Amino acid sequence: MTEDYSQASEAETNEFWDEKARANKDNPSRAVGVDDELRTRCIENAQRIVVGRALRRAVSSLDGKTERVLDFGCGVGRWLPHLDANFDAYLGVDISSEMLDIARKNYPQSKFSRLNNFTIDAEDTSFCLAFCIAVLHHNSYVNQDALIRELSRVVRPGGQLLLLESKGARMCGSGRIFYSRPVTDWIETVESEGFRHVETTGTCYQFADRIFAKVFSRAVARRPLMYRTSIFFDSQVMPYITPMLPGRFHERVLMRFERSSA
Ligand SMILES: C[S@@+](CC[C@H](N)C(=O)[O-])C[C@H]1O[C@@H](n2cnc3c(N)ncnc32)[C@H](O)[C@@H]1O
Repeated sequence: MTEDYSQASEAETNEFWDEKARANKDNPSRAVGVDDELRTRCIENAQRIVVGRALRRAVSSLDGKTERVLDFGCGVGRWLPHLDANFDAYLGVDISSEMLDIARKNYPQSKFSRLNNFTIDAEDTSFCLAFCIAVLHHNSYVNQDALIRELSRVVRPGGQLLLLESKGARMCGSGRIFYSRPVTDWIETVESEGFRHVETTGTCYQFADRIFAKVFSRAVARRPLMYRTSIFFDSQVMPYITPMLPGRFHERVLMRFERSSA
């Protein structure tokens, strides 16, 4: 039976991630990754390169005013060390209490809080960066709009927003909670909530994998040596090349915005 997630509610998104966290308690990377262990590592490496570069640019545009960062959809706290190194204070927020349990266990000194009814437990304009990696596209379109509004509330004027999202035609998730948008749609929606678009970098996690599968067939491309080779390219080489390729080659986009003055 196909489950229809076209209008996934907050509760359904929550249950989906709670379940993933419960199933991967001993393997936090997989809790926020995909089922294939190697591919999860590949995505992590690729993201570390692309997100790391955008984070450095976001930090430098803050001119030393790096008081408080919001890790929205923090999951198990994968990005916490990178954010802690650049900001005075960190708050990790997630919809899934099971994810937050793992994050608290990993980082007992850090602050985490659960999203409730699309409300972040923080005052208006209290963050200089909202950092949001692979989160919004796991929410229905209506809910994405509400979340972007809430992010706009908590980022201070001149503050930054980093979003890593799936790009592509709008389609309603069927059997899984996943909602992409065309890049222009992401940008227009975020800009309509008081942000100014600064830059977009495209990236791709399965470029070499797809080419190998096309050239050799999927079965051959999955042979261990060939699969490892494609993982190597996708995680270590492609993150430097894909940003230069035309947009149709990109699976994900990392968008940076600046909060406009009121
Ligand atoms: C693919 S994981 C990414 C986790 C983390 N950002 C990272 O890069 O490691 C998606 C995370 O977003 C969280 N999430 C999804 N929808 C959310 C929402 N509406 N509010 C807060 N967190 C949400 C999930 O619970 C999950 O932890």
